[in-house]
Amino acid sequence: MLPIFILVLLLVILMVLIIITYTLHAKKAGSEDEKPGIVQAQNYVYASIVLVALAAVATLYICLHGTIWQAHLMEWMNIVVRLMHITFGIAWIGASFYFVFLENALNRTEQVREELAGNLWAVHGGGFYYLEKYKIAPKTIPKHLHWFKYEAYFTWVSGFCLLFIVYYFNAAALLVDKNILDISSWQAVTLGILSFIIAWFIYDLLCRYVMPKSKIIFMILGLLFVCGFAIFYTHVFAARAAYIHFGAMLGSIMAANVFFVIIPSQKAMVNAARLGKPLNAQLGKNAGLRSLHNNYFTLPVLFVMISNHFPSTFGYKNPWLILLLISFGVAGVKHYLNKREQGKISVWVMPVSILILLSAAYISAPPKPGACNADVSFAEVNKIVQQRCISCHSAKPTDDVYKAAPNGVMYDTPDEIVKYKDKIMERAVVTKTMPLNNKTNITEAERDALRCWINQGASVK
Ligand code: HEC
Repeated sequence: MLPIFILVLLLVILMVLIIITYTLHAKKAGSEDEKPGIVQAQNYVYASIVLVALAAVATLYICLHGTIWQAHLMEWMNIVVRLMHITFGIAWIGASFYFVFLENALNRTEQVREELAGNLWAVHGGGFYYLEKYKIAPKTIPKHLHWFKYEAYFTWVSGFCLLFIVYYFNAAALLVDKNILDISSWQAVTLGILSFIIAWFIYDLLCRYVMPKSKIIFMILGLLFVCGFAIFYTHVFAARAAYIHFGAMLGSIMAANVFFVIIPSQKAMVNAARLGKPLNAQLGKNAGLRSLHNNYFTLPVLFVMISNHFPSTFGYKNPWLILLLISFGVAGVKHYLNKREQGKISVWVMPVSILILLSAAYISAPPKPGACNADVSFAEVNKIVQQRCISCHSAKPTDDVYKAAPNGVMYDTPDEIVKYKDKIMERAVVTKTMPLNNKTNITEAERDALRCWINQGASVK
C-alpha cells in the first residue's frame, strides 16, 4: 500500500516542479514556446486530469487491496501504462534515430549556403521534404519552433510507473531473491531508486570533467561504469529485476540528458539568438554529444525491455555477463549503422558485434545433460510438482503473494503436467528460472528427475 503513496507523491512533486519551472521560464525571457494561451490552458487541464486520474487509481487500489480484484486492477494498470510507455518510447527513439540519421546523411558539400551546415532532400508518405541545418542558428529565431522533449519525459515517467506496478508493488516476489541477497522489500526499492540517481551523477561528472580532457579515458571509465552497474544489479536483485534496473538506469540517464543538458542548452542558444547576443557553440556541441550517447543507449535499453520473455538470458548462471555481451553487441550494431549513414564503411564493426552476440548465445547454451539411469515414475514427478510448484500453479494457490495461477499455468492434474512438459523443461530444468527465485527450494536431483521423466516420454503411468 505504501509504495503507491510514494509513487503518487513523487508524481505530484514532479508535476508541480514542471509547472513551476515552466511558469517561471515563461515570465522570464518571452520563452521558447510562444503558444497561444488556449493551448497552454489545455495543457494545464490535461495535467490536472492526469493527477486526478492517478489519485482515483490510488483510492481504487486501497479499496480493492486484499480482495480478489487487486490482481485484476494491477493487470489493467500494467496494460495501460505499458502501452503508454511503449508508445512514448517509440516516438522518442524514433525521433532520436531520425535526427542522428539526418545529422549523418546531411549533404554538406553541394550548393550549401554559407550559414548552413547542410541540407537533405527526402520523400516520404507521398510528399517531398527539404530540410536545412544551420551551422549555429538562423539570424532570427522563428516564432514557431518545435521542441522534442515531451516524448522523453513521458517515456521516463510512464516507465517509472511501470517499474512500481510490476516490481516495486510486488517486491517480495519479483525484486528480492533471498538466494542472491537477503534484504527487505523496502531496502530493495530504496536501493533501486538510489542507484538511478547515483548513476546519473557519475555519468554526468564523467561527461563534464573527463570527456573534454581525454576521450580514451572517458571511454574506459564509461565501460567500467556500465559493467559495474550490471554486476551490482545482478548481485542485489532477482536476475529479471536486475535486467530491468539496468535498462531503467540507462533510460533515466537518457531522460536526464534531455532534461538537464540538451533542452537547457537549446534554450540558452535560442535566448541568446533572440537577444542578438553571441552564441556559445560549445552548448550545441555538448547537447549533440549527449544526444549521441542516448542514441547508443537505445538498443541495449530495448533489449532489456524484451529480456523478460527470454529466461535463457537472465537465467544464465552469471546473468550480468549475458546482459553486458548483448548490450555491447547491439550498441556495436548501432555504431555500424551510424557509420553507414555517414557513408563510412567500417569493415570490422559489424562482424565483431555479431561475434559478441553469438558468444552470448554460445555461452548461455545449456550444458550436456547427464545420463538418466532408471525410469522415473510419474508418482515421483507428481510428488516434486506438488511440493515445489503447486503453491503457485494451482486453481487454488497457497502462496502468500500469488493468489491466482501465474500465466494461468496450473499443475493440479496429470494432464496439465503433461500438457506443459516442454515449458517445465525450459523453466525448471534448462534455465532454472522456476520455481520463482527457488522459493520452494527445489533440489538439483529433483530438476534432474523432471528432465529424465520428460526425456523418457512423459508418461503418466
Ligand atoms: C512462488 C510462486 C511460483 C512457484 C513456486 C513456481 N512458479 Fe512458475 N511461475 C510463477 C510466476 C509468477 C510465473 C509468471 C512469470 C514468469 O513467466 O516468470 C510463472 C511462470 C511459469 C512458467 C511459464 C508459463 C508461460 O506461460 O510461459 C512455467 C513453465 C512455470 N512457471 C513452471 C513452474 C514449475 C515447473 C514450477 C515448480 C518446479 C514452478 N513454476 C513454481 C510463479 C511460481
